[in-house]
Amino acid sequence: MSRDEPCIRIDPLTLRSMDTNLSSLSPQFSTTALSAEARALYQAEPDARIRLLQGLRPHICPFGDVMAQIPAGASVLDVGCGAGLFLLLLGRQAHIRDGLGFDVSVPAVEAAQRAAETSGLAETLTFQVRSIEEGMPEGHWNVVTSVDVLHHVPVSQQRSFVESLCERVPRGGRLVIKDMVARPRWRAWANQMHDLVMARQWVHQVGPEEVDGWIQAKGLSRVYRSRINSWWYGHWTLVYDRAS
Ligand SMILES: C[S@@+](CC[C@H](N)C(=O)[O-])C[C@H]1O[C@@H](n2cnc3c(N)ncnc32)[C@H](O)[C@@H]1O
Repeated sequence: MSRDEPCIRIDPLTLRSMDTNLSSLSPQFSTTALSAEARALYQAEPDARIRLLQGLRPHICPFGDVMAQIPAGASVLDVGCGAGLFLLLLGRQAHIRDGLGFDVSVPAVEAAQRAAETSGLAETLTFQVRSIEEGMPEGHWNVVTSVDVLHHVPVSQQRSFVESLCERVPRGGRLVIKDMVARPRWRAWANQMHDLVMARQWVHQVGPEEVDGWIQAKGLSRVYRSRINSWWYGHWTLVYDRAS
């Protein structure tokens, strides 16, 4: 969102309006606050493209809505972390205890590591070059997150990817998955054009209804869902807990 204007959320599973507005989020999760923090986090980044895009990203992606789903003091595994913005924002606000992010992109992970070091977060946040195809890393995290990664995964591997996220969630733990809408088609196309230009990749959005079925079949219980539009982009978020 370009400003913290009210935003109608449509429940993706029932298509009911949830009449929620983003400005009801705690101030530290507001778009304005997160964008300012993103700019500060990457101010020493030598790659101007990464510096610019990370500063803009909170305006395109409703990070505040997703961050609000992370329990305070959590230990977080962020799958497909890109330049690390999600963990860095959580770390900067001292909202989490620690985190590991991994991504297949070497320049993105190097930028994440630089930002962690210059922001004094290198003790608590670790970033690794790793691909989803290598499987999930070993470790003890009580929250597993994946933000805007699923549509980059080939269709034939999307379900097994989501299942691998579920399998990494321990008893009492949480899964937070956010992605881009498949419907309405024009919003999916807007994202398709974005990724053709920015990632030079033909992507495959999948609807939250289908993903919800995959996750519930793995024994996790849904605790939150949202559907938010920002500019011409459409976003969905699903959150699940595994019983203790
Ligand atoms: C839209 S970006 C999102 C980055 C980050 N999660 C964020 O929200 O800023 C998608 C990321 O998924 C990563 N990705 C795509 N395919 C991957 C794979 N097979 N293994 C690991 N990362 C992958 C890309 O490198 C890219 O950084």
